[in-house]
Order: sequence, then C-alpha cells, then structure tokens
Amino acid sequence: MEHVELSAADLLLRPWRDEDAPAVRDALRDPAIAQWNPQAGGPIDDEVALLWVRRRADWSTGGHASMAVTAAADGELLGSVSLHRIHDGDASIGYWTVPAARGRHVAVRAVVRLTDWAFADLGLHRVELCHAVANPASCRVADRAGYPAEGTLRESYRYGDGRRYDEHLHARLATDR
Ligand SMILES: CC(C)(COP(=O)(O)OP(=O)(O)OC[C@H]1O[C@@H](n2cnc3c(N)ncnc32)[C@H](O)[C@@H]1OP(=O)(O)O)[C@@H](O)C(=O)NCCC(=O)NCCS
Repeated sequence: MEHVELSAADLLLRPWRDEDAPAVRDALRDPAIAQWNPQAGGPIDDEVALLWVRRRADWSTGGHASMAVTAAADGELLGSVSLHRIHDGDASIGYWTVPAARGRHVAVRAVVRLTDWAFADLGLHRVELCHAVANPASCRVADRAGYPAEGTLRESYRYGDGRRYDEHLHARLATDR
C-alpha cells in the first residue's frame, strides 16, 4: 500500500517517521496509554520506540495503515490512529492521544477521517472498533465517530495490567448513513 497524508481541518494524519520516536516513547509511557494500548515486551525505551515507528511506517504488507496524528500548524504529535487487520474488506481501528491533546476531540476527528478514507479509497466494507467497557472515554470516541455498539465481548482482551476485560464491539459499515 502507498503512503498517504490526510488533512482534517487543523489536523494532519501522516505516516510515522523516525524523528517521532522520542514523542512516541513519552506517549507509550503515559499510564492511560500503557493500560489501554498495551505494547508487547518490556519497558519503553528509545530503541523500542524507534522499532515501533518503523514497524508502523512500513505499509508494504497491506495489512495495516498506521498514521501519526499531528497539528497541521506546527507538526506537534497529538496522537496515533491506525487501521489494522486489513483483509477482504474488513479492518479494525485503534487510537490514542497524548495527554496534552485530550479534550479537543482529536481522537474522534482522526477516527472519522481515517474511516472515511478506508471506505472511499481502500474500498473497505466494515471497520470494527473494540474498547474495554472500563474505558468510557473510548466508548464516547466510538459513539461520536459514528460507530454504533454491537455488543459486549466477555473477557476478550488482556490489557496493560495483565487482566482480561470485557469489551464493547462497535463497527461502521461503508453503507451506514
Ligand atoms: C480515549 C482517548 C483516545 C480520547 O481522546 P480525545 O480525542 O482527546 O477525546 P476527548 O478527551 O475529547 O473525549 C472524547 C469524549 O470522551 C469524553 N470523556 C473523556 N474522558 C472521559 C471519561 N473518563 N469518562 C467518560 N467520558 C469521558 C469526553 O467528555 C468527550 O465526550 P464529548 O464528545 O461528549 O465531549 C484518550 O483519552 C486516550 O488516549 N486515552 C488513553 C488510551 C486509550 O484509551 N486508547 C483507546 C484504546 S481503545
């Protein structure tokens, strides 16, 4: 898959770059991101962060499209949004925002923009979004981004504290209004 950049008002979604690694290191150390977007492996250091951005910058398998969410004005890193498990018209979407960017609907706007691109340009039919029931902010992002809830998955995912949590499954279809 070819890299793209997507604009959304004051946001620019763009592929990850090596120079994002220090900001990613700090973000992945945020307790809320460590809990709800857990990374495999040990502590987050510079090397882990660099591998993280390089893995996400490589779209060559066609299985994911991972974007840095930045401020269009000055390039500040605000968050992450990614389509993953892209296969046969389906994908899943994930996201986080850095603490300083929260409360401005950055995640909602990034999810809407990437989803619109997924339907219009990738030709996907269904995008799923899962979050822990214990993470109500993420539920709000899903609702606001037009992903209706479809049900509760019981103890379906092990989060950062090592415990399994129930999750809400939300999804959008290309044919949704
Ligand atoms: C969840 C997250 C992505 C939301 O980021 P954001 O775009 O900055 O979202 P906002 O802070 O603007 O909040 C979005 C909505 O959630 C609401 N919200 C925020 N914190 C909340 C909480 N603790 N409980 C309930 N609602 C909450 C906001 O009021 C807002 O609702 P509104 O649209 O009615 O105003 C961000 O908090 C985050 O990165 N958290 C840690 C990692 C994470 O949870 N990732 C998602 C994994 S599925």
